[in-house]
Amino acid sequence: MAWSLKQAPKLTDVQFERWNKLLEERTGIQVSPHQRGFLQIQLAKRMRELKVKHYNQYFDQVASGALGMVEWSILIDRLVVKETSFFRHRDSVELVRQDLQNRINNQVLTESFEVWSLGCATGEEPYSLAMVINDCFELAGLEPYYGITATDISQPALQHARTGIYSARKLQPVATDEQARYFNRLEDGRMQVIDKLRDRVCFSPGNLLKISEVPRVALDIIFCQNVLIYFRRWLRREILNELATRLKPGGILLIGLGEIVDWEHPGLQRVPDDRVQAYIRV
Ligand SMILES: C[S@@+](CC[C@H](N)C(=O)[O-])C[C@H]1O[C@@H](n2cnc3c(N)ncnc32)[C@H](O)[C@@H]1O
Repeated sequence: MAWSLKQAPKLTDVQFERWNKLLEERTGIQVSPHQRGFLQIQLAKRMRELKVKHYNQYFDQVASGALGMVEWSILIDRLVVKETSFFRHRDSVELVRQDLQNRINNQVLTESFEVWSLGCATGEEPYSLAMVINDCFELAGLEPYYGITATDISQPALQHARTGIYSARKLQPVATDEQARYFNRLEDGRMQVIDKLRDRVCFSPGNLLKISEVPRVALDIIFCQNVLIYFRRWLRREILNELATRLKPGGILLIGLGEIVDWEHPGLQRVPDDRVQAYIRV
C-alpha cells in the first residue's frame, strides 16, 4: 500500500533529532530538515509492518541488543540513497583504464592490481571497473591479474550486487560490445554479469565510519564516489585521510567531483585533470 505523509504519525522535533543523531552516529549520514518527511514515512512504514505504534518504542527496539542490530540493518537499507549506474562517472573510470594501461605498457605491474569500491550500492560501479580492467589485460594479451573489493552498509544492496543481474534498461550506459562480452541474457530478458568478472569482485559489508578498523592493505585504486556528500565536512576529511594511508605508492584515490573542495594530504598530489577529482600517492 502506498503511504502518504498524512497517514504517518507526526515525528516531533525531539523525535526527529533523536533519530537523526542515531543515524549520524552509526552511519555518518545526516537527514536534513527538508528530508524529514522522507524519514517519517520510512519509519512509519516499517513500524506499521511491525505493528509498533510509537516512534519512541521503535527507537528503543532498534537501538538495543542483537535483535536491534537486525532491525537496524533492515531500516538502514530503506534510508540510504542507493542511486547508481554503470559508468556513472565515465571520466573517473577511464582514468583507471589509462592508469592500468600505462602500468602494463611500462611493465611496472608486478603484483595483482587491487581496487576498492566503497559505497558500491548494487554493484554497477565495481562491475564497470571490472570491465575496463579486464579489457586492459586482454588487450595486452595478459592473464587478468586483479581483484576488486566492494563494500557497502546496505546488506540488500550487496545481495543484489552479488547476483550481478540487472534489467536491460540498467545496461543502457554499457556499450553494445561490452554487453556482448561481459553479460549473459537470462530467459526473462534481464542481463547477468559473466562469471569471469563476478569472480573478481568480492562484495562485503562495510561501514565507512569504521574505516579505521579495516585491515590495512595497500591498494592501487580507491574509488569512493557519491557517498561522502552525505557526511559532515570534518568527517569527509577524516575518512579521506584514512583512505590516503591505504594507497600503494602510485595508487590513485578517486572521489566524486566537488565532494570536497579544501582537502589536501601531504602524501598525495591532485591529478591535473579537471574532469576528475583524483589524488595520486607520491
Ligand atoms: C548514492 S550511492 C553511490 C553508489 C556508487 N558509489 C555510485 O557512485 O554510483 C551511496 C551508497 O553509499 C552507501 N553508504 C551510505 N552510508 C554508508 C556508510 N556509512 N558506509 C558504507 N556505505 C554507505 C549506501 O548504502 C549507498 O549504497
